[in-house]
Amino acid sequence: MPTDMHPPVAAYVFDAYGTLLDVHSATARHTARLGGEAAAFSQTWRTKQLEYSWVSSLMQRYRDFWSLTEDALDFAMARHGIADRALRADLLSAYERLDAYPEVHATLVALRAGGMRTAILSNGSPAMLDSAVRAAGLADLLDATISVDPLRVFKPDPRVYALVGRQLGVADDAVSFQSSNAWDIAGADAFGFRTVWVNRTQQPPEYPAAARARVVADLRALVDGAGIR
Ligand code: LAC
Repeated sequence: MPTDMHPPVAAYVFDAYGTLLDVHSATARHTARLGGEAAAFSQTWRTKQLEYSWVSSLMQRYRDFWSLTEDALDFAMARHGIADRALRADLLSAYERLDAYPEVHATLVALRAGGMRTAILSNGSPAMLDSAVRAAGLADLLDATISVDPLRVFKPDPRVYALVGRQLGVADDAVSFQSSNAWDIAGADAFGFRTVWVNRTQQPPEYPAAARARVVADLRALVDGAGIR
């Protein structure tokens, strides 16, 4: 019997954008065309994409995450004074084929070798997730790629986290949920998952749940040479 009264972890479930996939790799491929503003531009794009997801959920006017990604890109281009339509198309194309972070592949391999189920739970639309997962070479390393889309609401709505248990057939408290987004960790903790905040960019603690979550700098901390930690 585990001492913390939880069942053993049976599934590792990951947020996609920012956790497995580097959202800033799209702009990184076109730095020269962004006139020295690539980092700020990319941050505006990401911040607006997330804002639009929360506002859309609260208004109960769902539009899929790809549409919101396009809208957020248009805002970022306007704010940063970029009017290049070819660049817009190239950035969206790059977003369909984002880089995975360097440790993702080996971590998923090790978790699965340890008998764990692995999955994505993401705001992304099914088509954009399918494209990104294939391009990053992760398709064979995941038992499921779960999108919010059938529910027409975004994280951190608790109904989204409830998709995991239904799809993977595991108890909610046997799920370890990894996200680089503190707000997503707060939602997952409130729902009842065990949580790991992947604080890749050394952000200060925020949300009580994220502050008390296990915090790691990247996903290598989930496994060591001998197996799962
Ligand atoms: C996701 C976004 C929130 O993948 O990063 O769900």
